[in-house]
Amino acid sequence: MIVAPSILSADFSKLLQEVKEVQEYGAKFLHIDVMDGHFVPNITMGPVVYKDLKGKVDLVFDVHLMISDPLKYAKDFVAAGADYITFHYEAVEDKMEAIETIKKLGVKVGISIKPNTSVEVLYQILPYLDLVLVMSVEPGFGGQKFMSNALDKIAYLAAQKKQYNYSYLIQVDGGINKETAQLCQKAGCEVVVAGTYIFESDDRQGAIKGLLAL
Ligand code: DX5
Ligand code: ZN
Repeated sequence: MIVAPSILSADFSKLLQEVKEVQEYGAKFLHIDVMDGHFVPNITMGPVVYKDLKGKVDLVFDVHLMISDPLKYAKDFVAAGADYITFHYEAVEDKMEAIETIKKLGVKVGISIKPNTSVEVLYQILPYLDLVLVMSVEPGFGGQKFMSNALDKIAYLAAQKKQYNYSYLIQVDGGINKETAQLCQKAGCEVVVAGTYIFESDDRQGAIKGLLAL
């Protein structure tokens, strides 16, 4: 299992130290939650928050854009060091245009679906994606409870990937802990995002190890 700690739950007064710590414990991705107060009812961070981490850690910068106009800002997020840019299906009218625009910026592209969006809507665009992110909470805040309707979506994506030999990674985000991650892994998930479970644990190393072992 690939583990992507979400810095939303980190202590921002010592961000570099927090990020180095999770890297040391085996995390390979760093999940960066961008919220604009419009697509979701919360405001978090822009590119300036992570641009100085680039080069100081060796992690895949996995930028989750929960914003209404991802194409307007994608270039800035790439310039700051994003490796993956994931936009929301619900935010964009022309999904193929968004996929192509982001790919042209030289990064990998992901799409995310909210809990009330059915996974089948992605059917035609699956061949063009590097990552599919299934939200297992309503996007906007850390610390919410896992919604199990994510599991069938993960299973669908795993079946499509196998049948057509697609290359996207299957990622889940929201309410992940050892138990919910295990359910996701059984359904075919390859990358788990975890914020609260890792950063608020008394034993961060143990929390990450447990997820990595799935
Ligand atoms: C929620 C964010 C998540 C969040 C997960 O909108 O996309 O990445 O940080 O937090 P936990 O793991 O606490 O549910
Ligand atoms: Zn996220």
